[in-house]
Amino acid sequence: MLFLALGLGLLSALVQTGNAANIFVSHYSGTIYSLTLTGSGSSYTLTQNSTVAIGGQPSWMTFNSTTRELYVSDETGSGSAQVASVSAATNGGLKLSGKASAPLGAVANVQYGGGNYLASAHYQTSMITTHKLPLTSGASAFQTFTLTMSGRGPNSRQDVPHPHETIVDPTGAFILAPDLGADLIRIYKIDASTGKLTACTPYTDTPGTGPRHATFWGKNTLYVGNELANSVHSFSVSYPAGGCITLTKLQTLTTMPGGKSAPSGTKVGEVHVKDNFLYASNRRDLTFSPNDSMASFSLDTSGTMTFQGLTSSGGTYPRTFQVNQEGDLVVIGDQTTANVVVVKRDVSTGLLGPQVASMRIGSVGQAENDNGLSAVLWDE
Ligand SMILES: *[C@@H]1O[C@H](CO)[C@@H](O)[C@H](O)[C@H]1NC(C)=O
Ligand SMILES: *[C@@H]1O[C@H](CO)[C@@H](O)[C@H](O)[C@H]1NC(C)=O
Ligand SMILES: *[C@@H]1O[C@H](CO)[C@@H](O)[C@H](O)[C@H]1NC(C)=O
Repeated sequence: MLFLALGLGLLSALVQTGNAANIFVSHYSGTIYSLTLTGSGSSYTLTQNSTVAIGGQPSWMTFNSTTRELYVSDETGSGSAQVASVSAATNGGLKLSGKASAPLGAVANVQYGGGNYLASAHYQTSMITTHKLPLTSGASAFQTFTLTMSGRGPNSRQDVPHPHETIVDPTGAFILAPDLGADLIRIYKIDASTGKLTACTPYTDTPGTGPRHATFWGKNTLYVGNELANSVHSFSVSYPAGGCITLTKLQTLTTMPGGKSAPSGTKVGEVHVKDNFLYASNRRDLTFSPNDSMASFSLDTSGTMTFQGLTSSGGTYPRTFQVNQEGDLVVIGDQTTANVVVVKRDVSTGLLGPQVASMRIGSVGQAENDNGLSAVLWDE
């Protein structure tokens, strides 16, 4: 009996080891990859599963787990650019499913309006566009907003508006777009019947902040990662009846221990929340030279941030990262070293590390160039 019990225990451990997760990866060279992560405990393996060449310079992806469509932004800076969709089979197989034309220099997109529309941020051309879904070849933007600002900002990169992301609020009624060039958080109201956006009064941040990437925590708190000031801001979010979202800034912290400024050359990448923890990626801070760092913060019940610590990003220029739904693993996409890194996450302390897998994907990039690995996402 004892042997049988031990045998069954071993068998179930082996079965659990077979658990696999897929990861999607975009590379600036024009290819989307799917990887499979297998393993448990401290022993994991990444294997490359499938690839699809879609052309352009893929910069960012979003994934709809219901339709299993990936939406891919194209940062191509001259000639013509596209926005593409890729169908992902549950076994990781990838297939180009749609393409439409889009203005140059797109760096992010988000699906909205019951899944019927996509809103994109175009850094280089100072535009927010929307497209109707599914994407059809030859179709161009459904709506185009060409952004303006009153004058140059204090940072040399603040010559013109540079929207960096589009996100939907938790009620699904608004789109927010951090604008690195204009130091604004732009706000748009969604018309649920037509899918059209109307610009609201934006939130004006401190000159030189450079807001880049944002995430909601519940309905009433917003965190924004600032690429130029290398800080994170928290905001309370209100929803006046019949009006537009308004933001009130609550707190500012740097992404370094003791509130120190980040080393010169650092550019905060993304921010993500999971339960009562917030994470930011520090691109090119070289804290774990030659690797960069991930900053973690704990959040109290009112959303106040407390800096926790820095851990290695396992490569250079962590442009995107994502915590899995279970909360025990984080995937990090290091752009310049073009490697996908998976680190453990302690679900109770929120602390990251150690690294359990790393895999080079495609060609490495050069510092400060739009090449190398652009984005990573869990298939969930
Ligand atoms: C991806 O990997 C899984 C697990 O190894 C395998 O079953 C599946 O067939 C692979 N898919 C493709 C498209 O190669
Ligand atoms: C994902 O697609 C489904 C089906 O079209 C849609 O209902 C849903 O709103 C989409 N999700 C998002 C985040 O847009
Ligand atoms: C940097 O990352 C690489 C790849 O993940 C890893 O092998 C190496 O140990 C890391 N070095 C440091 C100092 O963190």
